[in-house]
Amino acid sequence: MSNARHYIITVDGPSGSGKSTVCRRVAARLGIGYIDTGAMYRCVAWATLQQGIDLDDRKGLSRLLDEIDIRFQAAGTENLVLCNGSDVTRAIRTPEIDRLASAVSAIDIVRQALLPLQRAAARNNSAIIDGRDAGTVIFPEADLKIFLTADLEVRARRRLQDQKDQDGIDLESVMEAIRKRDRDDSSRAHAPLKKAADAITIDTSKLSIDEVCERIINLVHTRILNQHD
Ligand code: DC
Repeated sequence: MSNARHYIITVDGPSGSGKSTVCRRVAARLGIGYIDTGAMYRCVAWATLQQGIDLDDRKGLSRLLDEIDIRFQAAGTENLVLCNGSDVTRAIRTPEIDRLASAVSAIDIVRQALLPLQRAAARNNSAIIDGRDAGTVIFPEADLKIFLTADLEVRARRRLQDQKDQDGIDLESVMEAIRKRDRDDSSRAHAPLKKAADAITIDTSKLSIDEVCERIINLVHTRILNQHD
């Protein structure tokens, strides 16, 4: 049996379902790449703020997209996100960027510009792709598709934990923000959040991160690595 085959795992689902933590760990365990497509939308949102570009200004947005440089860099156990030369790892995780990234991700020219970058990131290496449309649009031919879900309150508590050092955030407001984002991400015209027909759903509400990772790794072994010599 050979583990050298190039394979793609997609992980989609709403915010707070545990995608990024799980993807990062599974990638480390399997020794494959981790592609955080949400961070790419967050970088575009961050760059519009930096450059003072209104989302209705298609010309300005189009120029920004032509010039944007997004890189991921491993630094010990951390994955740094660099946008136009700045380390934006923390700056893209604020409630303001949460909202702006959701708005940015509904714009067709933004999705069109990011799609080739997302595909290129997994061209040479096996990878796990964290997104909303990874299994439906970016990699419809993926070897394994996972759809992670969790109860709204569980997701809000996780998000609160992530943003605990920021002022003025409480459970109710986080739940409301997530509810709105779920609605926006699922109802937008372009590549809405949707489970691929052939994706396997894992409800993470009552599972630990390790349990979720274990399930995915078992699926990789039974459905991919043990299938191809
Ligand atoms: O996963 P995240 O919270 O970092 O994603 C940020 C925003 O980008 C979120 O509103 C959904 C959107 N997104 C998307 O539309 N398509 C993707 N493949 C990934 C994220």
